[in-house]
Amino acid sequence: MTDSDSRDALIGAAREAAARAYAPYSGFHVGAALLLKNGDVVTGANVENASYGLTLCAETSAIAKIANEGWIAELAAVAIVGGRPDGEALLGSDPVHPCGRCRQILNEAAERSRTDIWVHCASGDGAQVASYRLSELLPAAFGPKDLGLIPD
Ligand code: THU
Repeated sequence: MTDSDSRDALIGAAREAAARAYAPYSGFHVGAALLLKNGDVVTGANVENASYGLTLCAETSAIAKIANEGWIAELAAVAIVGGRPDGEALLGSDPVHPCGRCRQILNEAAERSRTDIWVHCASGDGAQVASYRLSELLPAAFGPKDLGLIPD
């Protein structure tokens, strides 16, 4: 499998996850797919709440899943897809980038995984993808290394 095949497969998993979003307030469905070092993929979607500020983003939901399984140090890459559903389709022509809080939450797993993870950001219609290293999206991050949690 080429790098672009594996990127596209991860985006496909994020798209499937977006279909399981619970987003009755914003109508904006986001899916995140985490690639683990062993090739497994774990997904999450946004979970909104009537008390709007309590909303969980897709990336945060997915990171909670791997942390709960004991895999927080196994992260290799992430794909994010977002848009507005229209029947089976997901609309939206601009790549969706992780919010600031999610960048920090992704950084926790990335540092513990000792990997400057790829972050693939895709548009709802799938036509646009922008790929970054997490260090580009969150430069000079504060993380577990600053609290002595990353041994040499
Ligand atoms: N959202 C995410 O799931 N991830 C992000 O990184 C940005 C925003 C969700 C939260 C909310 O349910 C909806 O998108 C609109 O803000």
